[in-house]
Amino acid sequence: MNEQEFIPSKYKTLLTSGTTTWRAPSNIALVKYWGKFQDQIPANPSISFTLSNAATTTSLEFERRENGNCKPSFDLLFEGKSKEEFRPKISTFFQRISKYLPFLKEYHLKIDTSNTFPHSSGIASSASGMAALALCLMDMEKRMNPSIAPDFLLKKASFLARLGSGSACRSISGPIVEWGQHKDLSDSSDLVGLPYGGKVHEVFEGYQDTILLVHKGEKIVSSTAGHDLMNNHPFAKPRFAQAHKNLSRLLTIFEKGDLPEFIEIVESEALTLHAMMMTSVPYFILMKPQTLTIIEKIWAYRKQSGVPLCFTLDAGANVHLLYPQKHTEKVLQFIKNELVVYCENGQYICDQVGGGSKKV
Ligand code: PMV
Repeated sequence: MNEQEFIPSKYKTLLTSGTTTWRAPSNIALVKYWGKFQDQIPANPSISFTLSNAATTTSLEFERRENGNCKPSFDLLFEGKSKEEFRPKISTFFQRISKYLPFLKEYHLKIDTSNTFPHSSGIASSASGMAALALCLMDMEKRMNPSIAPDFLLKKASFLARLGSGSACRSISGPIVEWGQHKDLSDSSDLVGLPYGGKVHEVFEGYQDTILLVHKGEKIVSSTAGHDLMNNHPFAKPRFAQAHKNLSRLLTIFEKGDLPEFIEIVESEALTLHAMMMTSVPYFILMKPQTLTIIEKIWAYRKQSGVPLCFTLDAGANVHLLYPQKHTEKVLQFIKNELVVYCENGQYICDQVGGGSKKV
């Protein structure tokens, strides 16, 4: 696979106007992507669970402009209201993808987007948001070129979403998505996220992710800045090698359903991600005291109850609790009894692995 594959030949017809709506879920990485080269080429492979409930729905209205052939023009609405803060990110995204969707400069777009999770909950909406927008754009392209196959539409949507926000390329399909070249994944690519095609034990079906909203404010360091700090990071090389190894181990775990091993890798990956932040130059900490308290409580609960509950973190203070579906009732009780006090305004989101994006 190479970038050329995603450059289309001339369209026979251009549409005058139309509309399309897609819903794309968030995802949570088990082996983390942290460190990148230009255009979100990952420094190491990653693998994630696609979520179900935490999602973005985006509607795209397009209208052909009389004086096309300039920069893509767009209006941006977030939950029905104009959202100027999001404009620069979307403008950069359009610049990056214009080579792959040359029709864009001919249109004025109205993007209307909303999330199922609370606004500024500290849950990154860039993955689901960029994925939903990329899918709308691909739907538009397919109408101008009906020969685009459904598989290719999803693959190119992932390719485009990656150019908006790296981890967004893992929000197109589900339930497990791989991204980045790895020796044990024959079809893997740095350019797109692909549904993991290997054997997965039934214990992972409906796997739960309850997201404890510990800190809903802005992050002190953006993930873009964090990725950059992996350049010249003293531990970058061993970290990238470790991600390759952890991914290999995880593939066997998926097959065998070995939960103690799963827990060891997932928690170690989360802590390593934050260890990289704490050992960058300059260093920074995104966890909050409540994050650590929750982790300690999870460890104590797991030891005392035997429930295979573990945690993972993304680039923030929120804690994702991962556990098999059959333990849902018990774990939710534990959360209510012991963890909810550490959540901002007592908020948490109940989610589980899901099948990927959908046209609405
Ligand atoms: O997609 P970005 O650039 O926001 O990076 C996200 C990186 C992590 O969420 C921390 C890890 C991952 O693999 O999703």
